[in-house]
Amino acid sequence: MASRVSRSLPALLLAVASLACPIAASAQEPGDWFTMNKDYSAQRYVNLDQITPANVGSMKEECEIRLDEPGTAVFTSGLLMVGRTLYVNTFRAVYAIDATACALRWRYVTSFNSAPNHPSNRGSGYWDGKIYFGAANGDLIALDAATGKPVWDVPNAIGEGESFISAPIIWDGKVFIGIGVSDRGIRGRFMAFDANAGKELWRWYSIPLGNEPGADTWRSASTIPPAGGGFWASSSLDPTTGEVFAPVANPYPDYLPGRRLGANLYTNSVVSLNVSDGRMDWYYQAVPNDQHDWDLGTTPTLYTASDGSRMVAIAGKDGLVYGIDRTTHDLIFATPGTTRQNDGPYDEKKPALVCPGTLGGAEWNGAAYDPGTGMIYTGMVDWCWYFAKQGDEGAAVWNFSAPPRGQITAINGANGDIEWQYRAEAPVIAGLVPTRSGLLFGGDVRGNLLAFDARTGAVLDRIDTGGALNNGLISYAVDGTQYVAAAVGGVALNTDGVAGALRVSIFGLHGSAMPRIVRTAPLPLLGRTPAEKAAFVYGFVCADCHGEDARGRVYPSLERQTQLAGNPAALKAFLAYVPPPMPRLYPGLLNDKDVDLIARYLKVVLKPSPATPAAPATGSSGAPGP
Ligand code: HEC
Repeated sequence: MASRVSRSLPALLLAVASLACPIAASAQEPGDWFTMNKDYSAQRYVNLDQITPANVGSMKEECEIRLDEPGTAVFTSGLLMVGRTLYVNTFRAVYAIDATACALRWRYVTSFNSAPNHPSNRGSGYWDGKIYFGAANGDLIALDAATGKPVWDVPNAIGEGESFISAPIIWDGKVFIGIGVSDRGIRGRFMAFDANAGKELWRWYSIPLGNEPGADTWRSASTIPPAGGGFWASSSLDPTTGEVFAPVANPYPDYLPGRRLGANLYTNSVVSLNVSDGRMDWYYQAVPNDQHDWDLGTTPTLYTASDGSRMVAIAGKDGLVYGIDRTTHDLIFATPGTTRQNDGPYDEKKPALVCPGTLGGAEWNGAAYDPGTGMIYTGMVDWCWYFAKQGDEGAAVWNFSAPPRGQITAINGANGDIEWQYRAEAPVIAGLVPTRSGLLFGGDVRGNLLAFDARTGAVLDRIDTGGALNNGLISYAVDGTQYVAAAVGGVALNTDGVAGALRVSIFGLHGSAMPRIVRTAPLPLLGRTPAEKAAFVYGFVCADCHGEDARGRVYPSLERQTQLAGNPAALKAFLAYVPPPMPRLYPGLLNDKDVDLIARYLKVVLKPSPATPAAPATGSSGAPGP
């Protein structure tokens, strides 16, 4: 369905390749991406030099695989590449894809007994022939990397109301993963599981209670107990010191400055945990007593700076990149990677335009590090929101400012000086990839795949991928040939403009204007009855922006648009021609059947009423973080 519109070029269609013969899973090689951020350091640097500043201009798409999952709108998985296979997740499935030809090797589909807590997944981790991931149904699962068959499956590895979102990393027989979502009032924890059997080995709680150290940093007269501190992103690990570094998200409730006093440890902190027992050795808290939902939702990056100091860098939703000395635990620098303004307390009388707003700063991906240039590279979301205090405890937050843009910033890894900055058309949340040949690959949610001169920031190439780049972007080599692969398409909360059908695209120096297109067999919609299916499709595709009840959330209420309710033809016409900032979802991400169901759902939630003026969409109940 999507090819008719997103690409006018003739395409070679291949049959569903789900029966392609499995190949033996290879051992983990140094060039592989066996974590979402390549390896345990999370530098995202590739030691490859076939694609160079001189020839990158001739890079083209070689092939793509379309993931046909009706109703799946969020595609924010990173990519793994081990041996000759790419691995990518949606909240419903894991796909193993030939890393040069885009054929499907296998697909593992998760089963659901009830609606997932959070319909997104940031990906898997690889270790010893197995693919590990926390599923949206709450299971922790290990699959045989060669066949996709489960090796073990721990049902309900987490509790009611908790979610697996981030990708695990696996080292020395242990699977490391944390739970989300802070904004749902969970008590965050980070865990290690036995990689061979799935048994939980230890857990560390990010929110201390009772007499535990740090519990006295939560003070308030409110009856809401300390909560939050979830994990959106993968961790990193130093095998030489036995430390696992994890990024802790925001306190709960969001905002509400009067209800939470004190520093609220260990929210918005990067923590160093001992791999063997989960004991916390040290921490650095970036944003104490958070009033802006400025959590740490990106992976900490470990590197040795040009002056020899052992560093950890982490980029935050507050728009800063923190460089911390891992020996002394001192903050060496905090460098802005996007617009920062009005970062103090907000008051009752005058709403303040705060930058970054609730959905700005570093999200999904943080710092990449290039040992050649000694620079940290970070992508950001440049988006300011209004904040006002309401009474003693409440806050109103809304986004009636300019649409979001983005930046990519290069920062000196030793002293934090800004070396160059690129202003992107749209938010940058996809991973950045420095290469040995002096390139930096990046991308934005408007679908631009970008290649920079890593030293100067000069744009050397720009490819329109036809869909948002929402996370996975990697480079690797197979049989001596270098490729770039990207997870393309889908809606991110802060996307405007393109959405695009879900796909994984592979680019290289042997691509053409007619890339090979592989299609997977469609997954059936979730839900038993048409009414359930309709609620799922609306819930997964529209609700993040317009609210479950269509009364508005980050974006306005749909109450003025009752003519679209129960009228698929009118809704199709609206969706096909709607201008930005509403993303283009149909045709492309949505097919005719999906839109029929959404029209049906709108009829249920939008009772016809006289036109009402649009109200500001307040986020005081909490937009769900990055
Ligand atoms: C990524 C966020 C996002 C998603 C997802 C999204 N929208 Fe929108 N929508 C917007 C924005 C932004 C606008 C424009 C608001 C403005 O102009 O102030 C908008 C406007 C609209 C309007 C016009 C409202 C009015 O009264 O002017 C309708 C109707 C609408 N969207 C329907 C939908 C439907 C149905 C879906 C799901 C299929 C959907 N939207 C998904 C962001 C989104």
